Amino acid sequence: MNKHTIIAPSFLAADFTLGKESIKLMEEGGADWVHLDVMDGSFVPDITFGHKMVGDINTKTDLPLDVHLMVEHPQSHIDNFIKAGADYITFHMEAEVHSHRTVELIKQGGVKAGISIVPSTPVSAIKELIPYLDLVLVMTVNPGFGGQIMIPRCLNKIEEIREISSRVNPSLLVSIDGGVNSDTINVIKTYAPDVIVTGSAFFKAKDKKSYINTLRSK
Ligand code: DX5
Ligand code: ZN
Repeated sequence: MNKHTIIAPSFLAADFTLGKESIKLMEEGGADWVHLDVMDGSFVPDITFGHKMVGDINTKTDLPLDVHLMVEHPQSHIDNFIKAGADYITFHMEAEVHSHRTVELIKQGGVKAGISIVPSTPVSAIKELIPYLDLVLVMTVNPGFGGQIMIPRCLNKIEEIREISSRVNPSLLVSIDGGVNSDTINVIKTYAPDVIVTGSAFFKAKDKKSYINTLRSK
């Protein structure tokens, strides 16, 4: 990879009763961002946490907070996550008809806007939005749970997104999320995503710094 790859450990795999310590593990491991998975039990089967958790974590770290909303009607929650101190708010285009308006609401709040697509959604579904976005989050598993096996075919979307963004939005960040570990990282690196999210493998790693370096190294 040519530039510094942003590594975003996911809080989902942490022990939720040890929030502060878990964030410290990320900081000490050399993480760049904290990835926060918000699930509503409707868009995805599981329920995790809401804006209060994001606000509380915001008081414990200076790392940018990368909020991944896996919720129905994301537009109605944007304001709360802006107030909570999110740096990036990413929502699923599959959950929002008026995605462009939602992107604009996020940006008007001074927050970077991202859109995520599940494995079955093609890049063409977000083509019209790419000029307006700060980030695209390519799901490499079906969202809803940590610790799943990566679907490698989803990585092809990185190239498709870059093909469009190089013309209309060269500063767009492309992020991947799901099934990242020391085995899958080699194939992931050939696609050079800007951001790599990692949950269970990060918290399982005995030496977190060395694990993050493995993800980041060329
Ligand atoms: C899954 C979440 C991911 C999750 C990744 O729906 O969006 O961020 O934490 O976990 P791993 O890295 O274990 O696949
Ligand atoms: Zn996520």
